[in-house]
Amino acid sequence: MTKARKLHIKSFGCQMNVYDARRMADTLAPHGYIETGTPEDADLVILNTCHIREKAAEKVYSELGRMRRLKEAAAAENRRVLIAVAGCVAQAEGEEIIRRAPTVDLVFGPQSYHRLPGLLARATDGRPAIDTAFSTDDKFAALAAPTAAATRARGACAFVTVQEGCDKFCTFCVVPYTRGAELSRPVEGIIAEIESLAEAGVREVTLIGQNVNAYDGTAADGRAWSLARLLQRVGQVPGVERLRYTTSHPHDMDDDLIAAHRDLPKLMPQLHLPVQSGSDRILAAMNRRHTRSDYMRIVERLRRACPALALTSDFIVGFPGETEEDFAETLGMVAEVGFSGAFSFKYSPRPGTPGAEMARQIDEAIKSDRLQRLQHAINESQAKFNRSCLGRTFDVLFERNGRHAGQLVGRSPYLQPVQANAPQSLIGEIAAVTITEIGSNSLFGTLADRAAANMRPTPTVSTLVATGV
Ligand code: 5AD
Ligand code: SF4
Repeated sequence: MTKARKLHIKSFGCQMNVYDARRMADTLAPHGYIETGTPEDADLVILNTCHIREKAAEKVYSELGRMRRLKEAAAAENRRVLIAVAGCVAQAEGEEIIRRAPTVDLVFGPQSYHRLPGLLARATDGRPAIDTAFSTDDKFAALAAPTAAATRARGACAFVTVQEGCDKFCTFCVVPYTRGAELSRPVEGIIAEIESLAEAGVREVTLIGQNVNAYDGTAADGRAWSLARLLQRVGQVPGVERLRYTTSHPHDMDDDLIAAHRDLPKLMPQLHLPVQSGSDRILAAMNRRHTRSDYMRIVERLRRACPALALTSDFIVGFPGETEEDFAETLGMVAEVGFSGAFSFKYSPRPGTPGAEMARQIDEAIKSDRLQRLQHAINESQAKFNRSCLGRTFDVLFERNGRHAGQLVGRSPYLQPVQANAPQSLIGEIAAVTITEIGSNSLFGTLADRAAANMRPTPTVSTLVATGV
């Protein structure tokens, strides 16, 4: 029997990192590692990092200062603590991390964490171990399956990585360098993973990938399946009630996937589709491979396929060369699409990307001003969408207890947090809730008769013909 050791993982950044952190824990469990919620009592701390913007990457180094003190305090009590840096900063900076922070024992990238047990054995003999190779072995097949308890701990909603990497090379983005080329997981492994999640009580599955709609994984029949086909298959797994996928690129929004929003009742009517800018000039400089009108056409087709669909997006302000006119086009786009929410960021030049070398970098003060104006427009759009939900009855998947006794919190089909008085037995279940009040961060409602849920009007034959997607 292996001696029990404690593991603490702190994840930064995107959902892919959240998923990777779960799988690292799964892979270390057979080696005697049990998770702990605090770094203070851990024998191994993993910082699972994000490199997307400078601010995110710099967080690692301030966190490593804290880890150094923690390690010294443990050493004073004769306790050895190992510090690991994983994720996209590890991939991008490699050895440089150990030079800047000698307290680090292990550095490994997003494509190497299935080799973690071997790496740990190497690091334990006192010399730092580094693995940032993009290997060709099947990482997902090599990972240990979660224990039954770990699967149950996932709760009612789970993310499952189905695709990694990016071949698009937007000129602002580090992802093609840190996560490598687009790669899809084979269908069988995904389905097996989702079956065990569903058996343990997962009701909502979000398929994730940097470019999830570029999915083309191989199925048992030897064919490459599209994301639409995979979604349909995942919807057949007993127990799975809701499907989502993120993040998508407009370029890969193909006919089948648009039709899936019409044909798959389990696919939630919400889609995150980053546009980044409303100006064709800036979209071209970003190498986005779509124009503003391409994006608008996709939105129109999606809404014809699923009239209830809500869209969210990502925006960058202050990309090199962005004029006030370009920015006005971005603002115009927010009003035109009517997003139910969006993330917005100041452009952050990333080392090694073409954008960082471009002339006409934008002043920090201008970036801040544009960000503020954009966020104001997004907030208005979101508030308008939320107000339109008042009085409607939604299916809510309850996930956990709310702040007040007797209250549960769940998610609407649009991913809004919804609070309602409901019995404990509804945790992990879907129930109809009528929205009675709109708060700043969540909606409030009362339990209703499920038959009243009016989320998805069943399409009639004539609307299906008329939409013709
Ligand atoms: N600067 C600012 N935002 C960025 N994003 C990606 N790279 C950068 C960068 N260099 C944003 C994009 C992307 C989201 C995940 O992060 O909007 O969609
Ligand atoms: Fe980055 Fe563009 Fe790839 Fe998205 S599509 S991960 S923004 S390079």
